[in-house]
Amino acid sequence: MIRGRKPKPPFIAWALALLAAALLGGCEGGQSALHPAGRGAEDIAQLFWWMWIGGALIWAAVMAIAFYVTQARPEAHSESSARWLILGGGIIFPVVVLTALLSYGLAMMPELRSSGDADLRIAVAGEQWWWRVRYEGDAGGAVELANEVRLPVGRKVIIELSSPDVIHSFWIPSLGGKVDMIPGRVNQLVLEPTRTGVYRGVCAEYCGSSHALMKFEAVVMPVDEFDSWLAAQQQPAQAAQNATARQGMAAFLRNGCGACHSIRGTDADGSMGPDLTHVGSRLTLAAGTLGAQVTDFEHWIAHTHRIKPDAYMPAFDMLPEAELRAMAHYLSELK
Ligand code: CUA
Repeated sequence: MIRGRKPKPPFIAWALALLAAALLGGCEGGQSALHPAGRGAEDIAQLFWWMWIGGALIWAAVMAIAFYVTQARPEAHSESSARWLILGGGIIFPVVVLTALLSYGLAMMPELRSSGDADLRIAVAGEQWWWRVRYEGDAGGAVELANEVRLPVGRKVIIELSSPDVIHSFWIPSLGGKVDMIPGRVNQLVLEPTRTGVYRGVCAEYCGSSHALMKFEAVVMPVDEFDSWLAAQQQPAQAAQNATARQGMAAFLRNGCGACHSIRGTDADGSMGPDLTHVGSRLTLAAGTLGAQVTDFEHWIAHTHRIKPDAYMPAFDMLPEAELRAMAHYLSELK
C-alpha cells in the first residue's frame, strides 16, 4: 500500500455530476427545446418526454431480465423459458413500445407541417454567414432586415426558407423544429409562438468556417407592438441628426459601402450584404456575435475577419480613427 495518498472521489461520481450539470444547464433559457414558447416546440417537447419514458421502460425491462437471470435465478433455465425471456424481453416488448412511439410521432407530423391559413409570411435566406429576413408587407412595401426575426404572439407564421449557395438549417429551438435551407428550393416552416420574449435561433447544419457564428434573435411581440414595429421598419432611414453622423454617412458612401449595403432613403442601394436602413434598432451585430453599441460597429467594420473568419465583407482597418468612429455613430443612430 502506498502511504500518504489521499482517497479520491470515485470517477463515477464526477462523471455523473458533470452529466447532470450538462443536462440541466441546457433545459432553461431562450434556446431550449424543453422550455417551449411555440406550438411546434410544445409538440416536440411532449414527444421528447414520451420517447424518454419509452426508452426508460425498455431499459428497465432489459435490466430486470438481466437481474433475474444472473442474480435471482442464476441456475440453468429450461429451453422454453429461456426462449420466452429472449422473445418477450428482446423482441416483443421493444417492438410494442417502439411501434407506439413511432405512431405517436408520425401522427404529429401533419399538424406540425400544416400551413393552413397563415397570418404572415416571412422569407429567410441563409447567407454566408448571416440571415436575410424579408417581410413582404401588404400596404407599406417590403422590408428587409438581417439576423432578427420578429413575430406576433399567437399568430401562425409561414417562414419560407432558401439559400443562394450552401445548405444551412434554420432552428429556433424554443419555437419549433429545424428545417434545412437548400439551394434551388424553398422549404416551409410553420411557427406559432405562444409566449412573448426573445429567443435564440441558430444554424443547425455545418455550412463553412463561420457556421457557429450565425445566430439570430427571434423576438415574439404582442400583436399591436409588432404592427407598429413593422410600420416603423417600412419607413426610409432617418436623416443624419448631427455633424458626426453626417460625416459618418459621407464616409459610408465615399468608401463604397453602398455597393453591398442598402440604406433606404440614401444613395446606398447594394443588395449583397445586409440592409442597414434600421440597423441601429437591432439587438446584435454580425449575426449575434457582437452587441449593438457604437464600439461594436467600430470593432466590426475594422476587424471583420477577426470576428467572423471568411466573411465576404472586407475589413476596413485602413480607415482613420475619426472616420471609423463617425461611421459607427451614423449606423448606430439608424433606429
Ligand atoms: Cu449556416 Cu451552418
